[in-house]
This record gives sequence, structure tokens and C-alpha cells, in this order.
Amino acid sequence: MDTSQRIGVIGGGLMGAGIAEVSARAGHPVTVIEATDVAAKAALGRLEASLSRAEAKGKIDSAAAVLDRIAVETELDAVADAAVVVEAIVEDEAAKVALFKRLDEVLIAPDAILASNTSSIPIMKLGVVTSRPQQVIGIHFFNPVPVLSLVELVPSLLTGEETMARSRAWVQDSLGKKAIDCQDRAGFVVNALLIPFILSAIRMYESGFASAEDIDRGLVLGAAHPQGPLALADLIGLDTTKAVAESLYEEFKEPLYAPPPLLQRMVDAGLLGRKAGRGFYTYSR
Ligand code: NAI
Repeated sequence: MDTSQRIGVIGGGLMGAGIAEVSARAGHPVTVIEATDVAAKAALGRLEASLSRAEAKGKIDSAAAVLDRIAVETELDAVADAAVVVEAIVEDEAAKVALFKRLDEVLIAPDAILASNTSSIPIMKLGVVTSRPQQVIGIHFFNPVPVLSLVELVPSLLTGEETMARSRAWVQDSLGKKAIDCQDRAGFVVNALLIPFILSAIRMYESGFASAEDIDRGLVLGAAHPQGPLALADLIGLDTTKAVAESLYEEFKEPLYAPPPLLQRMVDAGLLGRKAGRGFYTYSR
């Protein structure tokens, strides 16, 4: 895909800011849409901080030059001329369905790709509420987006081959990511394996079998994982972890996907992990 083409990113949270960053670093003009002015300011702050770190580490020449290619707005119309829009709002089916209906009305290019970064919501459910389900696809990035190279490409039963091919070309050739192909089933490949692993670690901690530190140290030192499962849950966000577990449980009805009570309680308490300053661990912000 030509890097002069605009990329729209809806939601400038953990994932949306990352997707905006890698797209702008690849040379694309990028428009991020946030829900409110306050959230837009936070999204811009997240982008500035991440790009400054990338500049300090010598990964990019100029954070300011990349930021110049990114606009953060609050009106969806600002992505009307985008070639690709990636939705990265909260993991809530009703919210995503409402957004895809609106995106279908707003996007002008007849061949625009309407992508979702959802971790678990069926792509088909987003495709069928638009007039162009052949152009709706899951493009699932990994956190942190500027660091992890994997992207899962998830066509629904109605996604066209051309959409799949253009999405693959965009993530691989423009963004420099590596793609794997997945069926449109909750969790795709990585989360279907990773989430039950994290939930097992939460159950182990909840039962008092071992401390959070020892569970994580066990997997880091004994299985060469870069971080333990509880630290990883904090990084993903406990609300997102719980939402993905619920989608997996809803889809497959397997007990191993059911969120344990402690996860539920922590989410209710606002202990959402790194982004909230506290989850299984405490973080300075
Ligand atoms: P987040 O909570 O950090 O960010 C969501 C953002 O969307 C917030 O900034 C919120 O203000 C904004 N938002 C909500 N409704 C909106 C609307 N209608 N229009 C515009 N902006 C809106 O969540 P996060 O972690 O970035 O997740 C976003 C999506 O990415 C979810 O679908 C999640 O399942 C998926 N995902 C998350 C990963 C993770 O590790 N956190 C990994 C891969 C996918």
C-alpha cells in the first residue's frame, strides 16, 4: 500500500496509539479518533512519550517528524478519506457494532478496508452490520505494537480475497510486521492458547499455592518466558484479559476459559494492571 494513503485509527488507548505510531513511522498520514477531548489529549501524550523513547533509543531520527504525520480528533468524519481504518476501542461488542455501522456511512473510498483489532469478538458480527462485509477483516496487533512483530489476519466467511491480500501487503510490506492467518473464532491462535495459561496462573495465585512473584519467576527462569503470566496480564490490562476470557468461554463453553473470581473482583475494584498503576503488581506512573 502506498504510504501516502491515510490510515484511520479509532481509539487511542494502549493499542490504538501503538497502531498509529507504527503507521506514522512507516510514512502514512494517520488520523486517530478518540471519544472525548480528555481522551484525545491522553492519546497524544501516549504517542509523544512513546515516540520520544524511540528517538532516545535511536530507533527513529525524529519524534517530531513522526508526530507531524499524526492528527488526533474526536469527530469520526475526520477519517472519511482513509484507505484503511483500524478500530481499537474497548472490547465491547455493542460499542464495536455501533462504530462499524457509523464507519460504513463515513468512509468514502469504495475499497476502504474496515479492520478491527478485537481480541475475541467475531469479525462476522462487525462485517454484517456494514454494506461492505467483504472489506471487513480482523487485523490483530500485539502489545506493545512498536515492539512485537506479529499480526494475526482474521477474515470472516464474507471477507474478500482482495481485502485479505491488501491487508497482508499493508502489515508486512509497509509496517514490516509478520502475519499469520487465523479462522474467525474467539481468541484466534495466540489468545486461545495464552488466555487459559494466564487464567491458570491467576487460579494458582488465588488458591494460595504460590506468590505472584514466584509464579512469574518460575516461568521466567524455568521456561525462558520473557515475563511471567501475571506480569503479562497486568501489561495486557485485566479488563481486556477478562473480556477475552469471557468471549472464549462464550464461544467454546470450556471451563478453562472461565474468568476466575479474583480476576472479576480486581476488575470491579479498578485494579486493571499497569495502565491503572496497580494489578497483581504496583507501578509508579
Ligand atoms: P484501552 O482501554 O487502552 O483503549 C481503548 C480506547 O478507546 C480508550 O482510549 C477509549 O477512550 C477509546 N474509545 C472508547 N470508545 C470509543 C469510541 N466510540 N470512539 C473512539 N474512541 C473510543 O484498550 P486497548 O488495550 O487499547 O484495547 C483496544 C482493543 O484492542 C480491544 O478490542 C482489545 O481487545 C484489543 N487488543 C488489546 C490488546 C492488549 O494487550 N491490551 C492486544 C491486542 C488487541
